[in-house]
Amino acid sequence: MGDTELGAYKLISFDKISSTQDYAHDLIAQKKATDKTVITAQAQSAGRGRYRRTWVSHHGNLYASFIYKTVERDPRLSYAVAVAIAETLISFGLKPQIKWPNDVLIDGKKISGVLIEYAQNFVIVGIGINIETCPTVKEYQTTKVKKYADVSIEEVLSVLMKKLDKWRKADFYDVRERWMELAICINKPVKYQGKMAELIGINEDGALVLRFDTRYVLTYGDEISI
Ligand code: BTN
Repeated sequence: MGDTELGAYKLISFDKISSTQDYAHDLIAQKKATDKTVITAQAQSAGRGRYRRTWVSHHGNLYASFIYKTVERDPRLSYAVAVAIAETLISFGLKPQIKWPNDVLIDGKKISGVLIEYAQNFVIVGIGINIETCPTVKEYQTTKVKKYADVSIEEVLSVLMKKLDKWRKADFYDVRERWMELAICINKPVKYQGKMAELIGINEDGALVLRFDTRYVLTYGDEISI
């Protein structure tokens, strides 16, 4: 384990840990968490994804949990995070797209995932980015940064921290506009709760807007499939 200051972030890094996300929860529970602490690991033995999925976490990829102080839950945060990841990849010449709400894909294959969890007065933003390895996952295909650019985990993390700072503070009008530019499936058919709908976009509160014929539905939580 190592502790360093990087920019305004306090960086706690591990070679291997069960999950950076779980370590972040422990820090908060022990009242040792501070705003802008980032926990990284080179590998995780129990990496967690959304929907209680396992996040396969071999050496060679980026695994990081960012702790931020917060006063309330904010559904808009996940869009800012997705844009920050996409912009990080764009800075290395990649052409990412975002799948609602915050999966980042290249050529239709997942390269990054985000797990946002709240604890006390903190939010933990867990980010996994495939850099050197493409984990085999039943539900979707995966790809990695090294297929497109020769960059290290450290370089990606350094840019990511700056982009997170920028997009977390940005006006949601700008986040939404950028998210909509990068998102796949806007005005396209998607499957939602087993039914087909048209994905219209996100509204000013961060809700996903779907259209079923003449009926519009707002949702924050469910997964859509494309
Ligand atoms: C997803 O299902 O798409 C979200 C994946 C989130 C994975 C990251 S890796 C760093 C942090 N630690 C974890 O155990 N999960 C998140």
